[in-house]
Amino acid sequence: MADRRVVYELHVRPLFRELDRMHMLLVTNGDLDLWNYDSVRKYSTPPPAPRGRIGDNVSSGMPTEDTGGPWPREWVDVFNRWVDTQYGRLELATAETITARKFPSSDPGKVNLIIRVTGNLPSGPTYRVWVDFEFNRKAPFEFVVYQEAGGGSFIDNFDYSSDLPFSAPNTIQTIVVRDANGSHDVTVT
Ligand code: HEM
Repeated sequence: MADRRVVYELHVRPLFRELDRMHMLLVTNGDLDLWNYDSVRKYSTPPPAPRGRIGDNVSSGMPTEDTGGPWPREWVDVFNRWVDTQYGRLELATAETITARKFPSSDPGKVNLIIRVTGNLPSGPTYRVWVDFEFNRKAPFEFVVYQEAGGGSFIDNFDYSSDLPFSAPNTIQTIVVRDANGSHDVTVT
């Protein structure tokens, strides 16, 4: 089986803890944000770009011994593969319609939300499209619509409904969904 392409959002960002992020923001005066693609990429490029490079640091010394210690070898390998394969990342899909419908839940005070998104895809490869939680979100019901070329089975256009419902309080009225055109308030019906 071909190696799965390494992408920042799915395979690199989750390697960094909140503690790692916080410490590195402090040490670099806000310049290295481990939860930001561009920042991590900048600290992964060859010299003379930033003095300390993430790949070198996670092979020895980072995270520090007294805050959990360095990564296992397999994590370093994944990180290096991400660098060697040109810093893969997910794309945002372009939605034409976004709906959020609520259904009864067996959980008292809760409803189940099904989010459905349709739209067009660049022509050529097949795509995966899915709705994920926004990372590091400010409110509990912020979502993002990702697309990834080369996987999945959507061609030219997509019609995606969340496989499993999202559990939400029964008072929920709107959710936020971000796509390639920005963030949209979506009324729950
Ligand atoms: C996977 C997690 C981490 C990564 C990828 C990372 C990465 C880095 C990088 C690239 C530098 C060099 C920055 C520069 O030279 O401008 C650095 C320095 C530093 N980091 Fe981290 N770091 C991580 C976790 C941590 C944690 C958890 C701490 C503290 C508890 C920490 C403390 C420091 C300190 C004090 C320095 C500056 C002194 C030195 O270069 O040894 N780091 N780290």
